[in-house]
Amino acid sequence: MNITIDFLSPRDVAVIRQLAERIWPIAYRELLSTDQIRYMIDQRYDPEVLLEQMAAGDLFLGARKDRWCGYAHVYALGLGTFKLDKLYVDIDDQRQGIGRKLLERVSSEVVLAGGVELTLRVNRNNLKAIRAYERYGFEITGTDKVAIGGGFFMDDYVMTCSLDEKE
Ligand SMILES: CC(C)(COP(=O)(O)OP(=O)(O)OC[C@H]1O[C@@H](n2cnc3c(N)ncnc32)[C@H](O)[C@@H]1OP(=O)(O)O)[C@@H](O)C(=O)NCCC(=O)NCCS
Repeated sequence: MNITIDFLSPRDVAVIRQLAERIWPIAYRELLSTDQIRYMIDQRYDPEVLLEQMAAGDLFLGARKDRWCGYAHVYALGLGTFKLDKLYVDIDDQRQGIGRKLLERVSSEVVLAGGVELTLRVNRNNLKAIRAYERYGFEITGTDKVAIGGGFFMDDYVMTCSLDEKE
């Protein structure tokens, strides 16, 4: 099936939230408690938060076939480094190259914006995502454990990918 990657705008905030509500409980069921999943969805997918990020110029991309089936969110950290904050593909659409398509478009948009490096954080036990990111050209460059409120923590690897090498 033909997949297109398009910019998402404020009118798509509900779509992003719906996808997150479907993907997160399954993707993280063996990695995070139900309470932490709920807390993080509410924190990171609050429509007001997403709208503020869009207004600030963050890039949101969506993957679409007959319906939206994935999304990515990236923003500038400075000095040519951009943070890939979200990369999610709907449960039944995973492992069909959609994550790769989203990442390729993210990379080309970041290069157009003058970026030279992508960085991301991924749960240290999220082996499937880590493997996918390694396939995309990222490598583990650090670890970071941070409190995110509510008594919850994110225990992550930091992964980076040089965009120069991809050109
Ligand atoms: C991680 C994710 C974004 C990857 O997107 P995807 O469309 O499923 O993956 P792709 O089809 O682009 O595959 C990318 C590579 O990763 C590998 N891969 C993907 N899913 C995998 C899995 N479940 N197990 C092992 N390897 C996997 C594939 O082999 C592929 O490499 P190849 O094309 O060289 O064979 C997607 O699976 C997802 O949303 N997962 C759940 C949420 C999540 O963990 N997101 C990341 C948060 S940091």
